[in-house]
Order: sequence, then structure tokens, then C-alpha cells
Amino acid sequence: MEIRVRRGDARAASAELVIVPLACGEEDGATVRALARHGGGAGLRRALAAARFRGREGQVTIVPLAGRGNRAACLVGLGDAATLETDAWRRAAGRGRAAADAAGARRVAILADERAGDEAHLVALAEGFCLAGYRFAKYKSEADGPPAIESLLLVAPDPPPDADLRGVWKGLEVVLAAVATVRDLVNEPAAVKTPAYLGAVAQRIGKRAGIEVDVWPLARIKRERLAGLLAVARGSREEPRLIRLHYKGPGARRHVALVGKGVTFDSGGLSLKPAKSMETMKLDMAGGATVLATMAALGRLRPPIEVTGFIPATENLPSGSAQKPGDVIRYRNGKTVEVLNTDAEGRLILADALILAADAKPDAIIDVATLTGACMIALGTQVAGLFSNDRPLVEHLQHAAHAAGEPLWELPLVADYRDDIKSPVADIKNIGGGFAGSITAALFLEHFVGGMPWAHLDIAGPAYAEKALPYMPRGGTGFGVRTLIHCLTELALDAGERPARTAHEPGRRRAATAGKRRSSARRATRRRH
Ligand code: BES
Ligand code: MN
Ligand code: ZN
Repeated sequence: MEIRVRRGDARAASAELVIVPLACGEEDGATVRALARHGGGAGLRRALAAARFRGREGQVTIVPLAGRGNRAACLVGLGDAATLETDAWRRAAGRGRAAADAAGARRVAILADERAGDEAHLVALAEGFCLAGYRFAKYKSEADGPPAIESLLLVAPDPPPDADLRGVWKGLEVVLAAVATVRDLVNEPAAVKTPAYLGAVAQRIGKRAGIEVDVWPLARIKRERLAGLLAVARGSREEPRLIRLHYKGPGARRHVALVGKGVTFDSGGLSLKPAKSMETMKLDMAGGATVLATMAALGRLRPPIEVTGFIPATENLPSGSAQKPGDVIRYRNGKTVEVLNTDAEGRLILADALILAADAKPDAIIDVATLTGACMIALGTQVAGLFSNDRPLVEHLQHAAHAAGEPLWELPLVADYRDDIKSPVADIKNIGGGFAGSITAALFLEHFVGGMPWAHLDIAGPAYAEKALPYMPRGGTGFGVRTLIHCLTELALDAGERPARTAHEPGRRRAATAGKRRSSARRATRRRH
């Protein structure tokens, strides 16, 4: 699909369908008046009044336009003008895309106003439109989808110059491909996407993106004593894999390690899940897919940063060889864990990958995992939990997440709750006391990060949409991948010396990953233990 930008007003918006995002109170503003002059006529404003279009978030009204062909305008509410965030444009464009697909339009325009002079808004419109067009149609025997969109024309009175936008469209293309990769992998049935399949996909994707990929087979996993991965994989006939990806951009000054949970199907193991809870458990490798797609995007964008990704991949199934509640496993760093619930398997395999990540001595570690149902209870399906031992890293992630429209909410690593995962027979156990399940899960992970600056994203809620959202069709959402790409490209560009102050931390260094911060984070962590 071709994306073009044109300076102008309603007259310039030539297309079969013209999407018009409007905030509350703008239903009889300049944009609508211009639209009425150029095709809408008096009928346009009458139709808007009849539909009680008020620009409220989610309101969509379609009105025919005069002129050649079967033209129509699709007015989409943005919500209250005073509180508009970039994501409002993404959502509006996503809703416009649904209307365009329903109408079978091939040439679509989005009529924006002066707010789209801001690059972020213009990109959000294109991004929302494209993200909403995703389909997973691989297993549909009859093509029932809408015709492909041929072109998207963005019309605004004062858009940024084309020269500024060229890099932006290239970047958007890479980001969209990353989201599609995650969605495709999450939507793929577990019977297909075995750990070996994920390994093969990683090899292929890595090769195309120009990044290094290593896939450890069972023998190597044994040799490296990845005890958690071996314990979880025991119940399955499919062998586990440890996927390691590495990217180093020219002039890289920082090294970040990414870790993603790759459970290709989570039945719970012997601590078997009820049937209903298992229906969507092919989603349990979303964190791993997010890390894989992020790495591929970095390979294409080539920012000056070094990133190493680790994806422990396995099924979690019950069988005669499965691990049992009460078993104790010993990790390669010497820590022992009593496995009381085999359904708390994510933390067991993430522990191995976090040890490997910390061994690589990066400046920061970020893990992404569909880790706990408790996080879903706490934050619902549209917000991910964020846990961290490092303030600057939290700020970096929050900033990127906000720009991406992928909300993160920080939850505390409550020091007193560490007692909840103490075990009478081993160093720690893999479940807490029943309350604050996402916090005790994060506290478990913290044992394996070796005091490094670390952040954990629990995406159990937003990784998968059981019903469609404005720019996320039902199924795997790709949540988190845009945040990580933003965050890492920003970290790369941020020289690390720029002092940034926050209201609460005057004079504190912003760089999560500067050497000085690392040692102070280490000290802080040691103090807490
Ligand atoms: N993969 C699940 C978490 C999950 C639940 C993700 C729902 C997405 C939607 C995880 O492995 C799990 O089973 N967690 C248990 C932990 C418990 C046994 C301590 C849970 O949340 O119930
Ligand atoms: Mn589980
Ligand atoms: Zn799981």
C-alpha cells in the first residue's frame, strides 16, 4: 500500500473514502465546512446532525459525498479536544480503516487538520490505519476479506516536509512488519509453532534482518544446565530450544539484553489448567515473539546500540515424564527452586534466560512475558504491568510506551513480599502466598538478574485481544513490540551524558544504562537483599 502526503483541505482529499477525525465540538468547524463545500453539500451537515455526531471517542458516521465515483466521508470521533493524546489519532484511523474495509474502498484519504503538522500525529494516523488492516487468514479456505487498500492519502493544511517524512515512512514500515510478525506467531496454532519451529523462524527472520541467531538444541541446553527450561520441557515430546539473537549497530555504546517468554503452549503441566483457561494458551510465547520481532526491526533500522535477545522456548504439558509439584531444581548459578505449581512455568524458564542475560554484563535487562493471570486481574486487558529496580529505565520505558500508545503501569517490588516465595526445602519456591501474584512472580525473577538494572513487562493481559480493539483485530496484538523498538532506538540516540531532571529526582542522571547508575543500582539491590 502506498502512503502519500498532500498539503491542502477537503478539496485535495480525492479518494473513494475520506476519513475525517474530529474532536468534540468540531462537528461544525472549519474542516466540516470545507468538506460541505467540496462534495458534501448541505446534506453533510444535516446527516451529521441526524446521526448526532458529536466527535465523541468511538463515534463513526458515514455520509455520501457528491462527485465522481462512489465517494463517502467517514467522520470519526476523537473525544474531548482538551485531553487528546497521540493514540486518539491511531484509534480514529483504525476505526476509519474498519469502515473502509466494510465499504470495500481501495483508495482512502485521511483528512487531517493543523494538528497533523506534528509528525507524531501524522504517523499515528498512518500507523493506526495500517495496524487495523491486519488479518490472520492463513487457515480460511475461502477468501472473505476486503479488497486490498491501494493507497492512503494523508491530507493536512501544513504537513511536515516530504524530506523529513521519508525516514519516518521507512521506520513505520519496519515497525508494522514487526507487529505483523508478533501477531502471526501468536495466532499460529501451537501444533505448528513448536519450539523447534520458533527456532527455525528465528533463524530465517534473523538472516533476512542481518542479525546473528543461535538456536541451542536440547544437548546444548543440557550442557549449559538450563535447569528451568529442562524441567518444564520434560513433560512434552517436543524438545525445548534456547534462541539467542545478537545485534550490534555501528558506534554502539550501550548494551541491552532482552528476554522473552516462549511457552508455545501452556496447559499448566500436572497443575493442569481448566479447559476454558487453556483455549488461548498458544499466546504464551508472545513475549518471545516480541523479542524476536524487536531484534529483526533493529537489524533493519540499524541504530547505534548493542542488543542481545534470549528466548527460552518450550511447551508446558503433563505426562509420565513431567515435572511434579514438590520437585526441586538447581539453576546454573547455584540457586535452588521448589516447584509447587507447574503452571507457574514462565518464571522457571525466564530464570535461565535472565542468568544468561546477566552473564553477558549488559547495561540493562528487559524481559517481556505473559506471566500472570494476576496481572490481568489487576490491570485488565489493555495495560501491561511494569516492574523495575531502576528509575531511569522505568522513565525510558514509560516514555516510549506512551509514544507507542501501549500503556504500562508500574507495580511495586514490595520488599516484604519476598518472604512469600521462601521455601522450607529450597532457596525459593515458584509460587507466592496467593495475594499479589504478579508481584511475587516479579520478585522471583529478580533473584536471577544479578543486581543489574532490570525491568519486567507482564503482558498477560494486552498480548491477546479476545475482542477487537480499534487498531488491534482479535487475536495476538503485538503489544509491546512498538514500545521496545522506540525505547531501544531512543536509548541508542541518547548519548547517555545528557542530564535530564524529573520533578522528583533533581539532578539525577537519566541514562538507565550509564556505568555509574549501574553500580548504584547494584549497591541498592545488594542492600535490599
Ligand atoms: N501463562 C500463564 C499466565 C497467563 C494467564 C497469561 C492468562 C495470559 C492469560 C502463566 O504461566 C500462568 O499459568 N500463571 C499462573 C501462575 C500461578 C500458578 C502462580 C496464573 O497466573 O494463574
Ligand atoms: Mn502457566
Ligand atoms: Zn505460562
